Amino acid sequence: MEIKRVGVAGCGLMGSGIAEVCARAGYEVVVREINEELLRAGLQRIDASMRKAVERGKLEAKEADQAKARITGTVDLDLFSHVDLVIEAIVENMEEKKKLFRELDRICPAHAIFASNTSSLSITEMASVTRRPEKFVGMHFFNPPPVMKLVEVVRGYLTSEETIATAKAFAESLGKTVVVTKDRPGFIVNLLLVPYLLDAIRALELGVATKEEIDTAVTLGLGHPMGPFTLLDFVGLDTTYYIAEAMYQEFKDPRFAAPPLLKQMVLAGHLGRKSGKGFYDYTAGGSG
Ligand code: 3HC
Repeated sequence: MEIKRVGVAGCGLMGSGIAEVCARAGYEVVVREINEELLRAGLQRIDASMRKAVERGKLEAKEADQAKARITGTVDLDLFSHVDLVIEAIVENMEEKKKLFRELDRICPAHAIFASNTSSLSITEMASVTRRPEKFVGMHFFNPPPVMKLVEVVRGYLTSEETIATAKAFAESLGKTVVVTKDRPGFIVNLLLVPYLLDAIRALELGVATKEEIDTAVTLGLGHPMGPFTLLDFVGLDTTYYIAEAMYQEFKDPRFAAPPLLKQMVLAGHLGRKSGKGFYDYTAGGSG
């Protein structure tokens, strides 16, 4: 099946990055947020990211303008009535996602494929509220989507081979490498990443070392681009908390249980870069 028009639901950290990547690959993109303020912030994030790509020589200024012109921002879901593929990147909450997909099932053409960028929730469960479970698939991008080369394509219980093939070909047309995984919370990457990030917080709680020392140990000792606390702030403490909770609910394995410090920081609104404070301070004059 040929994909020409893509609808991206959600213009947060992931949705804006996914919309940008699709537009840069030549697709017409409609990106929807729930209110004008969030939409404006998301579109500004896309602008800033493309500006950075131009500065770094990854993109011609003319191509950036053309890509921006292919993106329509909206708060109206009815604009998804002409899309061939929906990529959902809203909050990591099953009830919110089901509500959205029920609406999309009514609005979108019958041929449209539905993909969720969820990192931890069941594709099969989301698909169950639509009349197209065979056209429902997971497409899990990584932050920041314009830079990270991987997409996990997730096979729900009823996902057809044709849908897997279309999702795979689409992700490859964005310049991504695809791995296909089964519908099991965490898929491949988060199954390994989440216990590691939670263990770093537990190490901090135990007083093994400071956060700076743990980050330095991982960047220099393992060659990771970011240490666990820098990465937690980058991904978002709330997002990490939701993913860990979802995985803990599914597996009841203490490896996925959120440490008290993570929960406290989320409740305190210290969510990482996006809120200005997390394990580090990103406000002007903060310790960086
Ligand atoms: N568009 C295109 N390319 C860009 C870009 C953009 N907007 N921004 C940066 N780049 C390119 C740069 O040109 C550079 O390319 P080069 O190596 O060929 O020169 C490369 O990306 C690195 O950029 P910078 O040197 O500017 O470094 P930054 O500090 O801006 O960003 C980083 C670095 C890519 C974020 C790096 O620190 C990194 O890889 N961190 C780890 C990120 C990670 O692990 N992400 C996964 C999180 S887990 C997840 O998402 C799953 C979820 O479910 C939780």
